[in-house]
Amino acid sequence: MVQVAVLGYGTVGSGVVEVIETNHDSILAKAGVDLQVKYVLDLREFPGDPIEKKLVHDYDVIVNDPEVDIVVEVMGGTNPAYTFTKRALEAGKSVCTSNKELVARHGTELQQIAGEHHASYLFEASCGGGIPIIRPLRTSLTADVIDEITGILNGTTNYILSKMIDEGLEFEEVLRDAQQKGYAERNPEADVEGHDACRKIAILSSLAYGKCVDFTDIYTEGITRITSADIQYAKAMKKTIKLLAYSSRQENQVMAMVAPYLVDKNDPLYAVNGVFNAIFVHGNMLGDAMFYGQGAGKEATASAVVGDVIEEAQMLGKGVVASWSPEKQVLTDVSGTSKRFFVRVKGSAADSSAAEKAFGKIEVVDAGLAQEYGFVTECMTEAEYEDRASKMENVLGMLRIR
Ligand code: HSE
Repeated sequence: MVQVAVLGYGTVGSGVVEVIETNHDSILAKAGVDLQVKYVLDLREFPGDPIEKKLVHDYDVIVNDPEVDIVVEVMGGTNPAYTFTKRALEAGKSVCTSNKELVARHGTELQQIAGEHHASYLFEASCGGGIPIIRPLRTSLTADVIDEITGILNGTTNYILSKMIDEGLEFEEVLRDAQQKGYAERNPEADVEGHDACRKIAILSSLAYGKCVDFTDIYTEGITRITSADIQYAKAMKKTIKLLAYSSRQENQVMAMVAPYLVDKNDPLYAVNGVFNAIFVHGNMLGDAMFYGQGAGKEATASAVVGDVIEEAQMLGKGVVASWSPEKQVLTDVSGTSKRFFVRVKGSAADSSAAEKAFGKIEVVDAGLAQEYGFVTECMTEAEYEDRASKMENVLGMLRIR
């Protein structure tokens, strides 16, 4: 029997207990692992709940119990999650988590500590919720050289953008509605400013390219500046708007960024709507692959966490090797990366000569909005775009085109 302690009895923690108990027999039959939840750590009381007798408030009970093999950290935040994880690994216990913030900040160090103690530190549920993406990158795709990852990695922003597009509403209005329905946090900053997607692409890029990508080095824009006017232009171009977390490697140069993009309807990411996530991966032998599914939610996330519990149980005493080297991956500056840009400007489409003067060949887009028009540039670098846009006085906004 493998004894498990769950840190945090919130949405994901209660889901983990449910998956282990509901699927106990099928896990045993398929994976040969007999899992049992021995403890649940939470500050709160849960009178009448089936876990009532397993509930502890003192972490020392768990970390000092030699019968506990695996600790599931689903508390969120970095503290005390970091300290608890470190102590468990140092005690030779394996840890798995859905905590993307902790993995992005301390994942390299925690994997090293796990290795030193023949334990594992796994985090499938930290990116893409229930979608298997970390394990495929860590195992199935190791024969490939991955050169691009593009993900819709944040369900909250994808829900907001999908609703803005479907109903023609403004960002603030949809955000309020999403908060009321529980799809967005009361403090939505990490999601809407792109920080959550940034941490996730840092984790995926570290895995894919083999060195530690520091999320604080990644250029990040959120969706707070997207307006219903942008949506109207997107529709006029038969495109949609998605918050994309992107990274690529060419030879040894890695770049990464998070920003809203215009996505064409022929693109596989176009149809990823609502709270769903998708991760598009390109490998030199694999070609294109896309991983799609529920990026959040109790059962889906818990399913991914318990998948890690099972792998750790199968590797007890040995540990799963670290997913990337502690060496820092230096990122190239996004200013040198090229793409086409969609630009909104004040004025009349009939008088686009100033835009042509600044940008050269352009395609004018008329979405029927009063006193403004849009245009699409030729492919150019971010630096070139900035330079050319600075020569115009009437720029209202810009979106990158995937
Ligand atoms: N806030 C995250 C999202 C939860 O909206 O995708 C899952 O990581």
